Amino acid sequence: MQLKENILNQFINPQGSNKDLVDLKLQNVTNQLLNFFSDAGNKPTNPKFKNFGTQHFKIPSNPKSDEQISSSLQELFDSSMNPSNPKYIGHMDTIPTLWSIIGDYVASAMNNNLLSLEMSPVLTQLEYSITEQFASLFGLPNSSGGLMLGGGTLSNLQALIIARNDKLNISNGNIASLNNEPVIFTSEHSHSSVQKIGMIIGIGTENVIKIKADKNSKMDIQDLERQITEQKKIGKIPFAIVATAGTTVSGNIDPLKKIAKVAKQNKLWLHVDAIYGGAVIFSEKHKHLMNGIEHANSIAFNPQKWLYVAKTCSMVLFRDFKSMIQNFRITAPYMKEQNEYINLGEINIHGTKYAEIVKLWLSLLGLGKSGIRELIDFSFEITETFITEISKREYLKLTSRPELNIICFRAEPNQIQNSMLDKWNEKLQNYLLAKTDFFLSLPRYKGKLWLRTVLLNPFLTKGHIESLFSEIDEFNEKYHKTA
Ligand SMILES: Cc1ncc(COP(=O)(O)O)c(C=O)c1O
Repeated sequence: MQLKENILNQFINPQGSNKDLVDLKLQNVTNQLLNFFSDAGNKPTNPKFKNFGTQHFKIPSNPKSDEQISSSLQELFDSSMNPSNPKYIGHMDTIPTLWSIIGDYVASAMNNNLLSLEMSPVLTQLEYSITEQFASLFGLPNSSGGLMLGGGTLSNLQALIIARNDKLNISNGNIASLNNEPVIFTSEHSHSSVQKIGMIIGIGTENVIKIKADKNSKMDIQDLERQITEQKKIGKIPFAIVATAGTTVSGNIDPLKKIAKVAKQNKLWLHVDAIYGGAVIFSEKHKHLMNGIEHANSIAFNPQKWLYVAKTCSMVLFRDFKSMIQNFRITAPYMKEQNEYINLGEINIHGTKYAEIVKLWLSLLGLGKSGIRELIDFSFEITETFITEISKREYLKLTSRPELNIICFRAEPNQIQNSMLDKWNEKLQNYLLAKTDFFLSLPRYKGKLWLRTVLLNPFLTKGHIESLFSEIDEFNEKYHKTA
């Protein structure tokens, strides 16, 4: 029995019989990719939404030719959002490092499974080693270690499962065995994943207690202390505080040292969601922003954001890794038992686990700590330029003083009635996209619409920023009379 050649050619023949054909295919795809991405600065940041309908992406009855596949691929390139364009400044999506793109390609070819050591003998070790080093960069002690997961929500989830099992002394996770309802505390500006997690870990979204933030969008310590006392008084069981180091909308950092003190006094688990801001640990100049994070029981961090690694790539770090294992491990009887390098699938919410570590590793090799430091410092410099432009214009207001490279601002010209300002800013966002291709997002925050920028792209220049602001001025000039 023999499969047809066109079917076998869907694989890299392990005896090398189709090497030339594969080489040609890879070169063609690489050329197509390169043609698109080396011109990404001239392609729309955010292509007009096209509704393809359910019939467009039909599963073919028979194999398609390489040319047909290439044209399907082109359609995906052309209609996708384009964070490689420096004018894409609306979200936390980055242009990925070249090594991280290559890392995904290589990881897929290797197709190891980080579920177990026998299915990923070197990659499991790589993951243990790199996450341990990150834990130490964040100032966690020698007892620490970490895991990679597919995104920040899952990293926060793994941390809060452990917090629940550890602090409530239910390593089986059975919260129904408790006499009272457990609660966690987090700022009103923390990421929505914290609420989602409240639902997933069985405490309910109503037991994720929102703490007020001050005018700089940082968690208010007095409100935190008051809420802890209040919740205890009504018979609830506080077990964790989730602090944010880099809030999603405005990039603010909760007062980590003070929160750590409150957590210690009340014997609560401290989880720091440093998904975004954690990257500053690589900058000598700015790492002080994370002061206090070293007291955390767990930290979540996404290299897929400010470390420029392709999505998805996230990690969660634990102060006491052994205790994390005790609070989570479910052995897989079909896997060879491991004790030195415990099978990652036994201690991670993922079962079969993608080798995200490969693209992170290659990216770290390519940049080194010094390269990352330069990228982070560059972001801060370009942010300063942006803030200076805002402060030159009385009609532009910041939501709070930016601490990282996320800036949330809006136009409030005197001539425009308060009730019309949201519409005005929405119109400004559309104008900038249509006329200049600058893509800024438009979050609703503190009851108003704001223009939000995340200044990540290493190809952003002072010239870009100046041209953006002259367009904002032009809009203001042109339309305030007609508003
Ligand atoms: C502070 C913060 N935490 C958590 C998340 C969730 O991460 P992910 O979207 O990777 O699940 C985000 C996403 O932007 C975030 O900004």
